[in-house]
Amino acid sequence: MSPGNLFADFTVLVVVVLAVAARPVSGQRSVYPSANLSTLWVNNKVLDTVTYDDGSTVRAIVHRSPQTFSDPSFAAGFFCTPPCQEFIFAVFILTATDAQNPLPVITMAQVVWCANRANSVGENATLELTGDGDLVLREKANGRLIWSSGTSGRSVRRMEITEQGNLVLFDQRNATAWQSFDHPTDALVPGQSLLQGMKLRANASATTWTGGKIYISVLHDGVYGYVESTPPQLYLKYEVSRNMSQRDPTRITFTNSSLSIFLQSTQPRNPDDSIPLPEAKSTQYIRLESDGHLKLYEWSTQGKWTMVLDLTKQLPLDDCAFPTVCGGYGICTGGQCSCPLESNSSSRYFQPIDYRRQSLGCAPVTPISCQEMKTHQLLTLTNVSYFDKSQIIMNAKNRDDCKQACLKNCSCKAVAFRYGQNDSNGECQSVTEVFSLQSIQPEKVNYSSSAYLKVQLTPSASDPTQNKKKTILTATLAAITTLVLLVIAAIYVRRRRKYQELDEELDFDTLPGMPTRFSFEKLRECTEDFSKKLGEGGFGSVFEGKIGEESVAVKRLEGARQGKKEFLAEVETIGSIEHINLVRLIGFCTEKSNRLLVYEYMPRGSLDKWIYYRHNNAPLDWCTRCKIIMDIAKGLCYLHEECRRKIAHLDIKPQNILLDENFNAKLADFGLSKLIDRDQSKVVTVMRGTPGYLAPEWLTSKITEKVDIYSFGVVVTEIISGRKNIDISQPEESVQLINLLREKAQNDQLIDMIDKHSNDMVSHQEEVIQMMKLAMWCLQNDSSRRPSMSMVVKVLEGAMSVENCLDYSFFNANSVISAQGNLSTYSAPPQASILSGPR
Ligand SMILES: *[C@@H]1O[C@H](CO)[C@@H](O)[C@H](O)[C@H]1NC(C)=O
Ligand SMILES: *[C@@H]1O[C@H](CO)[C@@H](O)[C@H](O)[C@H]1NC(C)=O
Ligand SMILES: *[C@@H]1O[C@H](CO)[C@@H](O)[C@H](O)[C@H]1NC(C)=O
Ligand SMILES: *[C@@H]1O[C@H](CO)[C@@H](O)[C@H](O)[C@H]1NC(C)=O
Ligand SMILES: *[C@@H]1O[C@H](CO)[C@@H](O)[C@H](O)[C@H]1NC(C)=O
Ligand SMILES: *[C@@H]1O[C@H](CO)[C@@H](O)[C@H](O)[C@H]1NC(C)=O
Ligand SMILES: *[C@@H]1O[C@H](CO)[C@@H](O)[C@H](O)[C@H]1NC(C)=O
Ligand SMILES: *[C@@H]1O[C@H](CO)[C@@H](O)[C@H](O)[C@H]1NC(C)=O
Ligand SMILES: *[C@@H]1O[C@H](CO)[C@@H](O)[C@H](O)[C@H]1NC(C)=O
Ligand SMILES: *[C@@H]1O[C@H](CO)[C@@H](O)[C@H](O)[C@H]1NC(C)=O
Ligand SMILES: *[C@@H]1O[C@H](CO)[C@@H](O)[C@H](O)[C@H]1NC(C)=O
Repeated sequence: MSPGNLFADFTVLVVVVLAVAARPVSGQRSVYPSANLSTLWVNNKVLDTVTYDDGSTVRAIVHRSPQTFSDPSFAAGFFCTPPCQEFIFAVFILTATDAQNPLPVITMAQVVWCANRANSVGENATLELTGDGDLVLREKANGRLIWSSGTSGRSVRRMEITEQGNLVLFDQRNATAWQSFDHPTDALVPGQSLLQGMKLRANASATTWTGGKIYISVLHDGVYGYVESTPPQLYLKYEVSRNMSQRDPTRITFTNSSLSIFLQSTQPRNPDDSIPLPEAKSTQYIRLESDGHLKLYEWSTQGKWTMVLDLTKQLPLDDCAFPTVCGGYGICTGGQCSCPLESNSSSRYFQPIDYRRQSLGCAPVTPISCQEMKTHQLLTLTNVSYFDKSQIIMNAKNRDDCKQACLKNCSCKAVAFRYGQNDSNGECQSVTEVFSLQSIQPEKVNYSSSAYLKVQLTPSASDPTQNKKKTILTATLAAITTLVLLVIAAIYVRRRRKYQELDEELDFDTLPGMPTRFSFEKLRECTEDFSKKLGEGGFGSVFEGKIGEESVAVKRLEGARQGKKEFLAEVETIGSIEHINLVRLIGFCTEKSNRLLVYEYMPRGSLDKWIYYRHNNAPLDWCTRCKIIMDIAKGLCYLHEECRRKIAHLDIKPQNILLDENFNAKLADFGLSKLIDRDQSKVVTVMRGTPGYLAPEWLTSKITEKVDIYSFGVVVTEIISGRKNIDISQPEESVQLINLLREKAQNDQLIDMIDKHSNDMVSHQEEVIQMMKLAMWCLQNDSSRRPSMSMVVKVLEGAMSVENCLDYSFFNANSVISAQGNLSTYSAPPQASILSGPR
């Protein structure tokens, strides 16, 4: 795996674990759905507090009790995400959180309304329902006013959170004086309406509550989505068949199975007036995401929130048609972002804001200045369109008029010219602030479009003589620099060669007990110039070869730029480890920068080919599978407990388990950690192994050999069920093997896990289930509750039995994949044993 890859996997993992680990660790329940006047609540632990494993905390003030225990329910109170110094006063959906009833439920509260988006408050902030009926949020008692409902003098009598999730202030006649439904933030819950004049406004970004530029509102003839600018730019439009002369305000109402658009207190008159939604199986909410997507979420039976529908895609809206998909000035092409470039010129007018994250957009190299309109020019982008088609410049029906109109008006930052068959009868769309652009294929969308972006030429660039001088100067400088670099390089290469010659003679095969040393030429010969590739891994490629009569596998290490001495020391270590269940190192080669390892050849290849049914192999019988499991256990046991230095493998997975012709299994790729380049190994130290096989403690605590035992548990489960642990071809609820195992274990349906390809497996049901229990012991979340490898061997030999009270709440570090992530939230774990590396 390349460092880049590792990085990517790792980022995903951090997020995953944060998301998954949101399990309540404390909490009692004192449920009052309503509160009376003259009550003050202080935001501290005195309130009914629930802290989730990820550090997010809710402090409920009014709370509806759920219909049945495991149903989600609404509450209003304080909410924070880690590091929990900033709180918002919000309405949220709580999922069951009772410490006495540990649930499979591990999802934090979902905020559906928020009072103080732009101004968070701290610990000890107060919320008061005053004597005169105002609901007031202050920073500390009598501190700065942050928010108020503005209802003093409206004879409010009490506050209540309704069954639907509406926070209501009722007056003395029991009428609504104020309700949170009238002030929506970024979400709608069933029963809630968005009325004409209200806005559903997305977060500025996924990491801040503050309202962003994207919002949705209802007009008399439909639903519209905008990005704020002057004037607002339209990106989403759902029109209804409405009689334009109607003057009543319109609303959309979110109900079970539809988003209906209709007039005050009338039913939709036309089927087109409602956007169909999937029928609700459980609690739902709709949220406008910071990227402009409008998504429907539902609480699923597996105990998590899942996105069931992206409404914006139904409308339908292409992924590239969102205003911020590629940031300002970014061009979206099939989901990829790039900066605008003129095809016939080499000058760059735009550069990415961050080279590593193209989706953040681009910025003009020279800002556009209204003082220098004479040096404005238009950059031509053919086959590019702009999402906002609402600002049309009239009297500019052809391309030239359109371009001129933009050059003449400084608030115009770009125009998109859109036309059908006749390009002297098109539409000129003016853009005052440039968000993302979109590549189009004219034959598909049935129109043509070119975008013209205004750019500012620098005065010098427009002056030809100065330009020439500059070119000459640059060329001269470049020539001198090149020369100097060449000289330095020549000196370096010479020195290096001398050093290497010296190095070559040093400590040549003086180490006792070493595997055979081969020359590079010899290995090239025996692998027929590296022609038969067996496989490829992060450390390099593996080739088949023959030394004398013996077949071998030659691994050519990449990124092995370390000194020869370290390499030899490492080879000595690996070479000294000999065990029937570990792939044997026969020899090695180190010449110049080449580093190769020669291993015994394993004719039946890796285990994955035999258990995932991708290679038309017949299913293995139960006896063979047992033998393989035993072999792996013995190999690992040796590494952990029997050899001179304790070695953690850190990348146990079927691809690293090889089979000889009699299906004897051997572990490969142990002890390689130090063979790779130091820079790379730093990354590797942070996060190592393969997603899906990683133990939960990778992100939380000390890494010990117990992570191998977890991975072993995953592999055993795969062997038994005859499938990969993450298999996206499976139905959604069973993509993750470990989650499936958890569910089946809890419902006492372990039989369902057995590989159905093999009758032999089915007929050994009882034994297979015993094996599954062993696997579950190895999968315990708490690494100290996992058995040691020697205990595993004993269980397999029948000399010991599996611990009785297993915790079935094991989770796979990959069970939720989220797109956001922040590497810096994680620091490298301390390492307790010698770590070896992944393929
Ligand atoms: C609010 O007042 C009513 C009537 O005075 C009382 O029955 C109720 O218990 C009070 N509620 C709370 C939460 O104190
Ligand atoms: C909150 O108030 C408590 C009690 O008055 C006090 O002990 C604590 O230091 C306060 N915390 C903060 C962050 O102000
Ligand atoms: C207020 O009205 C609701 C229904 O509209 C009713 O359920 C509730 O009991 C009433 N409360 C009081 C205090 O009258
Ligand atoms: C809004 O921001 C908060 C705070 O970071 C975050 O928890 C939430 O998921 C965000 N919501 C959206 C729709 O991005
Ligand atoms: C629209 O409504 C007006 C009055 O409400 C009515 O006179 C007119 O016929 C309607 N038009 C259509 C096309 O339904
Ligand atoms: C939504 O409607 C369907 C069909 O009427 C019903 O089966 C389902 O229980 C409803 N869901 C909720 C959450 O009320
Ligand atoms: C690039 O081509 C466009 C039209 O094809 C032309 O208007 C523009 O001047 C050209 N730009 C340069 C730098 O040659
Ligand atoms: C624009 O699209 C048309 C039709 O697909 C194609 O012929 C033309 O080459 C494209 N122009 C550019 C500059 O890519
Ligand atoms: C310049 O463009 C802006 C925005 O499109 C428009 O509101 C304004 O009327 C234009 N000014 C002139 C002089 O055309
Ligand atoms: C294109 O449109 C212009 C303006 O409407 C019209 O004068 C011209 O005849 C049209 N050309 C063709 C080929 O349709
Ligand atoms: C594309 O435009 C042509 C000519 O205007 C029309 O005949 C055809 O139906 C259109 N196709 C689509 C998919 O809109």
